[in-house]
Amino acid sequence: MAGTVALHQPVMIREVLEGLRARPDGVYVDCTIGDGGHALEIVDAVRPPPRLLGIDLDSEAVARARRRLGRAGVQVEVVRGSYAALGRIARERGFWPVDGVLFDLGVSTLQIESGNRGFSFLRDGRLDMRFDVSQKLDAHALVNRSPERELAGIIQTHGEEPEARRLARSIVRARPIETTEHLAGVVAGAVRRPRSKTHPATRVFQALRIAVNQELDRLRAGLNETIDVLASGGRLVVISYHSLEDRIVKDFMRREVSSCICPPGAPACVCGHSPTLTPITRKVVRPSPVETQANPRSRSARLRVAERI
Ligand SMILES: C[S@@+](CC[C@H](N)C(=O)[O-])C[C@H]1O[C@@H](n2cnc3c(N)ncnc32)[C@H](O)[C@@H]1O
Repeated sequence: MAGTVALHQPVMIREVLEGLRARPDGVYVDCTIGDGGHALEIVDAVRPPPRLLGIDLDSEAVARARRRLGRAGVQVEVVRGSYAALGRIARERGFWPVDGVLFDLGVSTLQIESGNRGFSFLRDGRLDMRFDVSQKLDAHALVNRSPERELAGIIQTHGEEPEARRLARSIVRARPIETTEHLAGVVAGAVRRPRSKTHPATRVFQALRIAVNQELDRLRAGLNETIDVLASGGRLVVISYHSLEDRIVKDFMRREVSSCICPPGAPACVCGHSPTLTPITRKVVRPSPVETQANPRSRSARLRVAERI
């Protein structure tokens, strides 16, 4: 249960602080406050601490972050909401414009380790996977009510799973599927190709989580919002954990640093696009071997930084 689980360990702290370049008179938004790990590091690193707004879609995370930051005597405003509405939330709270925005995407340790949130094949619980528990659609509904073709499409596009069609067929045959353990067992029994290091259900669980939470659309929307929210010279720092997220971040930054976004081969530029960002990290930044050894969950992290022009 959540009370007995270790806190989420924030990843790439040094790289995040270097990327944000926070200053005492700056204003910052942590779009994925989670357990408040990065937020604590930011306000600790800068004296006197800057103004910081935290956002999270998960009401349990919001309550926990408020308690944790409050106990540490830290003044951080924490709001429940989606970073897809970053502009509205920041404006309503008087954080406008801001000098830095952080996205630390994905799932927190507490969400994964809490069986009752239904995120993980390693913890048995009712299939759920919602960040926002007031939302109607959950993984149980997707798994038990989606037509086979739709399920295969989700597993293929959001899980990049080569055996998507076979797995969807097996899932539909095994319905009703109530729990994470039951689903993981069905998938493990259906895969043909041996998996090397990862559990055979990893890609299916990733796909369902992305679909339940519309993660890719929300990420695109959140990144677009940063262009309005950031002050000139403000920094955007994004940590992603799988290739679909990273591709969206990379494409967004590539577009925003370009002076032309016409299709390749267009005879003349007609887009009228002006760059809004300058790249700070030319290549994706990965955690150090020391960090991945100390915190294996950091292994898949990829960080990118850009600055608002
Ligand atoms: C990896 S955790 C962040 C951990 C945090 N950086 C820390 O150090 O404790 C990702 C968080 O993003 C939240 N989240 C996911 N989608 C979101 C969205 N659309 N808007 C806001 N928060 C979201 C999740 O609920 C989760 O708490």
